[in-house]
Amino acid sequence: MFNFDELIDRNTPEDLKHAKIEGIDDLIPMWVADMDFRTPDEVVDALVEQAKRGVYGYSEADESYDRALVSWYKRRYGWDVDPKTVLKMPGVVLGISDLINALTKVNDSILIFEPLYGPIGRAVKGSGRNLVVSDLVMKGSRYEIDFEDFENKVRENDVKMLIFCNPHNPAGRVWTREELLKVGDICLKNHMVIVCDEIHADFVYSGYKHIPIASLSDELKKITITCTSATKSFNIAGVQAANIVIADDSMRRAVDKYAFSTGAFGLNIMGLVATRAAYTYGDKWMDELVAYLEGNIELVKTRLAGTKLKVTDIEGTYLMWIDASAMGMDDPSKFFLDNAHIRFSEGTFFSKKATQFIRMNIACPRSVVNEALERMLALPEVR
Ligand SMILES: Cc1ncc(COP(=O)(O)O)c(C=O)c1O
Repeated sequence: MFNFDELIDRNTPEDLKHAKIEGIDDLIPMWVADMDFRTPDEVVDALVEQAKRGVYGYSEADESYDRALVSWYKRRYGWDVDPKTVLKMPGVVLGISDLINALTKVNDSILIFEPLYGPIGRAVKGSGRNLVVSDLVMKGSRYEIDFEDFENKVRENDVKMLIFCNPHNPAGRVWTREELLKVGDICLKNHMVIVCDEIHADFVYSGYKHIPIASLSDELKKITITCTSATKSFNIAGVQAANIVIADDSMRRAVDKYAFSTGAFGLNIMGLVATRAAYTYGDKWMDELVAYLEGNIELVKTRLAGTKLKVTDIEGTYLMWIDASAMGMDDPSKFFLDNAHIRFSEGTFFSKKATQFIRMNIACPRSVVNEALERMLALPEVR
């Protein structure tokens, strides 16, 4: 059994998540998406061994890396991937930016479903493309795609690319086979490319299954680009590594050529070594981690039930999307920072309409989640 209750020391000046905030000495950071858990020993050992070599030259993924990668996809999601179709990149967001630049033209329309992890929309706008947003709709406490709105917007704007996210950050959805097929149908009918950000694929809870949209049919495989990474799963975001699966030869060549022209491509040696070790030895750790996180989620749902904080259903990711509108605050995340010394992500990072939402990262020891809940529930505004 792994000990996810252990409080690890993240108190270093370089640590983004635990960065000090002036005037607060008991901060609980529950914002940026990394975890307060030590990565598995095999990953640490592989990095230490590499570091001790004292040589950090340019690196290139070899067969052992490819084997680890495709075997993880097969074991964990039943997905067959040809390693020759995988481009290595120093990060998913950077990869998405390359995909936008290589596969669409300035002023082309690209659609996203909001709320969504903010840097994706920024990458679209930053490259001079037209960002089209279809809002997810809340049914009860679960988000769904408004397929009519999606299809209308695709037609009206002649959308060329969908940037999709599965499991979805921050909506917490693990899209079903039926939903994926419907999304895929609309994209196929309208000659669109699907970019599917599956960075949270390993965080899927009981009763749900991660299905890579590219695995559903040959037609979908051809139009889909899947962005994957071990960085969220194994808490190694600082090594910046991503694997972008592009089955279609001409799209892959175009992206490769574009990435080469920017100079930002390939994996650094630490990203390579850590990813390979994680995908080779990480199954048991990952299974136990997901079960532990499920316990944290249950705790938050139970303790916040009946309060003014409405918790969105969460099927995947370790990021809980909470509607604080019943509290009537201008800025709920600032309220919790000032009054409970808890740092949440602001809803507006994910949609400018989400002024009343906070995103709570529960990937930390249970005692920390408990302490955060105690502080929240002690506030009369919450009860
Ligand atoms: C959906 C999603 N995509 C991408 C990223 C960032 O990936 P990277 O650090 O590889 O750019 C995150 C980080 O939180 C994320 O949630």
